Amino acid sequence: MTAFVQPTTPEQLLHLGPIDPVENPFPIFREMRDKQPVGPSGMGYYIASFELAQQALLDDETFSNKSNSPDYPGIGMVFGQTIIGMNGKEHLKHRNLITPALRPRALGDNFEQLARDTADRLINKFIDSGKSNLVPDFTFLYPLSVFVQILGLPEEDVDDFHQWGIDLTHVASDPARGLHGSACLRDYLGPVVQDKRNNPTGDLICRLIEAEVMGEKMTDEEIISFLRLLITGGADTTYHLLGNVLHTLLNDAELLELVSNDRSKIEPLLWESLRWESPVQFVSRATNREVEIGGTVIPDDSMVTVLIGSANRDERAFENPDVFDITRKADKSLAFGYGRHYCAGKDFGFTEATIGLNVLLDRLQGLRFDPDVSEPSKIRGVAFRGPSHLKVQFNH
Ligand code: HEM
Repeated sequence: MTAFVQPTTPEQLLHLGPIDPVENPFPIFREMRDKQPVGPSGMGYYIASFELAQQALLDDETFSNKSNSPDYPGIGMVFGQTIIGMNGKEHLKHRNLITPALRPRALGDNFEQLARDTADRLINKFIDSGKSNLVPDFTFLYPLSVFVQILGLPEEDVDDFHQWGIDLTHVASDPARGLHGSACLRDYLGPVVQDKRNNPTGDLICRLIEAEVMGEKMTDEEIISFLRLLITGGADTTYHLLGNVLHTLLNDAELLELVSNDRSKIEPLLWESLRWESPVQFVSRATNREVEIGGTVIPDDSMVTVLIGSANRDERAFENPDVFDITRKADKSLAFGYGRHYCAGKDFGFTEATIGLNVLLDRLQGLRFDPDVSEPSKIRGVAFRGPSHLKVQFNH
């Protein structure tokens, strides 16, 4: 049985590891929004309301992304210098280099086919048994396998990638583990980038090598750092999104039937799921000056945790926020961030999740939780949230 952790204060919650098994952070978030929407987090400050989160993410001159650069404790230490640690002109230059390469259309006509084939291959492995745990069998492997193929790397390296990616995300609670993951990825990716410079193979790594804005290209070091970011930011996010959507569908037979019969409902379903259980719950910033926000004065050069997961449950922005409702306008949520650093892979992730879900619904008729499994599936986590397991049965 999973032993869930139930922190009772913001400080306790924000000190936990990114995937520690917290079942329900939402009452703490509500209390933070109601009592003190901006307050101390233990290692800096938090922002918990929708309005103030938007305000901070839009004001990038005050709330800088330098918090994600290698000069600050946190993910920059293990990613290296990447787009999410940059500001101003440097950020714009990198964004212009990177975003076009991540658009599904730029990835070639075969992106959707590749995603569909990957989903089919994974399902083929378990469909005859009529049973699966969709977390290890599908939601985890699918985005990572698509990614590895798009990068032009061998699919059998998926497990290593996953492990190193997890190691990276532990940097705040276990820096040595984070740095180990970072070094392993450099040792693996360094020779790969070198080789692709000499022998271009048309994949995403090659497109990053070739991308040019105003005569400037990315160095090997910049490409390796960006790939570190993509492995966690690009694969783990879709993994959690798919898990959370399936968890909701399996707990709501009517919704499952509705979506199975009318696939146009997948889009609002994904948006509502992104709002309801945002795969990325926090983003970080650091102040460039002393600033007053939400009645609290934050000193210059303070770390600020913007609680996206709380903002997306703010009753001032979403009516009955704790109700899952695919008819609401959920695409204004902050699940993909807000402002200049808005997710550069949104279309990629959304297309990939849509295809994955369509293939699952096409092939696993009569999908339901396995009644023989006694431990119920629960969504848990702190910075990243997803279901503990999805042990299911289906007709075969
Ligand atoms: C589908 C689920 C996804 C979610 C929920 C998600 C969420 C986010 C969030 C919240 C940010 C803002 C970070 C900040 O403001 O500090 C972000 C940025 C980013 N995301 Fe995603 N993401 C997803 C998928 C992807 C995918 C599939 C890719 C790549 C293929 C990707 C690449 C990026 C990049 C490169 C940035 C940095 C943009 C910048 O700093 O300008 N994301 N994402």
